[in-house]
Formats: sequence, structure tokens, C-alpha cells
Amino acid sequence: MPSMKLSPGLAVAALALMTALPAAAQFRNAEAAIKYRQSVMTVKGNHLARVFAMTNGQVPFDAKVAAENIEVVSMLSGNAQFAAFAVDGSDKGNTRAKAEVWTEKDKFSAAITKSQEDVAKLVAAGKTGNLDQIKAAAGAVGASCKACHDAYQKPQ
Ligand code: HEC
Repeated sequence: MPSMKLSPGLAVAALALMTALPAAAQFRNAEAAIKYRQSVMTVKGNHLARVFAMTNGQVPFDAKVAAENIEVVSMLSGNAQFAAFAVDGSDKGNTRAKAEVWTEKDKFSAAITKSQEDVAKLVAAGKTGNLDQIKAAAGAVGASCKACHDAYQKPQ
């Protein structure tokens, strides 16, 4: 299904990140890896919230602005933030990641794939400019973010 594919630019960027260096070599230390993944998640969440503000009717719907924000969510849904969990020692310190991230690697990977697939569908919906389609696809993305957080992020 073409709509399931990552945009070519994102796929190339993700591939470059994955092949360039092992995860640990991309960060100064565990603290930097934690900060990186939290930062990407924060910005991704901010742009997803801008889409929700439109699908909830808090902000007037503008198809172009929605698509732009969806592109940012897509760009920030690649593998680098998840590779940051592979850095030794990043299970400790200023992190809310649960130990299960490291003890349930297959399930955690499946949650990553699910989220990325849902984001790809949201990108496709964004390109239609149709509010109902964007609303449904954004809801699915929110649900897959939440499913992973419920399982792998400690509450505040
Ligand atoms: C595969 C699991 C997974 C998926 C999918 C996922 N997250 Fe996260 N997210 C985490 C984990 C684990 C943390 C805690 C990271 C830490 O504290 O080291 C986190 C943290 C966050 C945070 C808090 C960042 C901070 O500063 O502490 C936000 C915001 C966030 N995620 C947003 C999102 C959004 C939005 C999506 C979906 C588009 C998403 N996440 C998808 C696992 C996931």
C-alpha cells in the first residue's frame, strides 16, 4: 500500500542514521541520549497537538497548516529517538522510561512499528486535506502514542 511508505526523504535520513554509527556512538553519553529522545518526543507531541487543536475545533481547520504539522510529526517519528533507548546506562537518571523498555524489546519494537505505521497513514490523510480523514488518522496516532506510554513510560 503506497500510503504505508515513509516519505523518501525520511527513509533516507533514517537509513543514514542507522547505518552511520552504532546507537551509542551517536550520543556523548547516556544523559545526552535521554535528553535527545525526550526532546524529539516533546516536539513531536507539540505538532501532533496542533493537529488535534484543529480536529477538535479549538482552532479553525486549515488543510495546509494541518499537512505541515503532520509532516513535522512524520519527520520526528523516525528511528533515531528509539535508538537512543539502546544507549547503555540510559535506563537510569532523568528518565521516565520503565525497565520494560529493555526487558520487553520485541514488544517495544512492535509499539514503534505500530506508531510509525499510524503516522504514515496520518501523512496520507493529511495529503487528502479531508478533515474527517485527518481526524480519524490523528486519533489512531494518539492512541498508539498512548499505548506505548501506558506500557513503557512512568507517570509523572
Ligand atoms: C514505542 C514507544 C513509544 C511511542 C510509540 C511513543 N512514545 Fe513518547 N515516550 C516513550 C517513552 C518510553 C518515553 C519516556 C522517555 C524518557 O523519559 O526517557 C516517552 C516520552 C514522551 C514524552 C515526554 C518527553 C519528556 O520530556 O519527558 C512525550 C511528550 C511523548 N513521549 C510524546 C509522544 C507522542 C506524541 C508520540 C506519538 C506520536 C509518542 N510519544 C510515541 C515511548 C513512546
